[in-house]
Amino acid sequence: MRVAVFASGSGSNFEAIAKSDELRNLGLEIELLVCDQPQAHVLKRAEKYHIPVFVNRLADYPDRNDYEQAIVDKLKTLKIEYVLLAGYMKVVTKTLLGAYPNRIINIHPSLLPKFSGLEAIERAFAAGDEVTGVTIHYIDEGVDTGPVIKQCKVVRLRNDTEANLEARIHQTEHQMYRQVILDLLNKNNEVAK
Ligand code: GRF
Repeated sequence: MRVAVFASGSGSNFEAIAKSDELRNLGLEIELLVCDQPQAHVLKRAEKYHIPVFVNRLADYPDRNDYEQAIVDKLKTLKIEYVLLAGYMKVVTKTLLGAYPNRIINIHPSLLPKFSGLEAIERAFAAGDEVTGVTIHYIDEGVDTGPVIKQCKVVRLRNDTEANLEARIHQTEHQMYRQVILDLLNKNNEVAK
C-alpha cells in the first residue's frame, strides 16, 4: 500500500508510522512526505528514515487550486493510493479530495465533533473536561469533519497539567494511527487475495 504522509510541524505521528516494522512488513510503503513548512522538524525525521520529501508552499502558487494540483500531480506520479494527514495545517479542498475520494485520513486530538479546529488540547484542558481523546477519520470538505474510523478516550487525571495531558494524548495518537493503518493494510491484503 503506497501512501504519502502530510505534515507541517514536529512530525511525531509521522515518525510513529515510519518506524513501525510491523506496518512495513505488512506492506506499508511511505513513498513521500508532503510538507508546507520548509523549516518544519518533520523534515529531519524524514531524512532519518530516508523518506523523500516534497516541500510545497502555498505562497509559491497563484491560488490554492494550483497549490493542491501540484501535490496531486506528484502523488499520481508516485502512484500513491492513500494520503495520511498527520498534523498538516492546511485545509484540504476539492482538488485533492476529488483525486483521493475516501482515501484521505486525518488525526485530530479531541473527541470530534468537540473541539474541532486549532488548539484542541488547550481548549479541552481549559474547559476542564474530565475526558477528552483522539479521533481518526476520513476527511471531507469541512474542518475536522468526515466519517469517523476510530475514537479513543483519554482521561484527565486529577493532577494533570496541560503538558501531561498533551503527552498522553500524543502517545494515544501514535498507537491509534498505527492500529488504523494496520487494519487498513489487513483489509487491503484480504481484498487482494
Ligand atoms: C497532532 O496532535 C494531530 O492530532 C494534529 O496535529 C498534531 C501533530 O503532531 N492534527 P505531530 O506533528 O505529529 O507531533
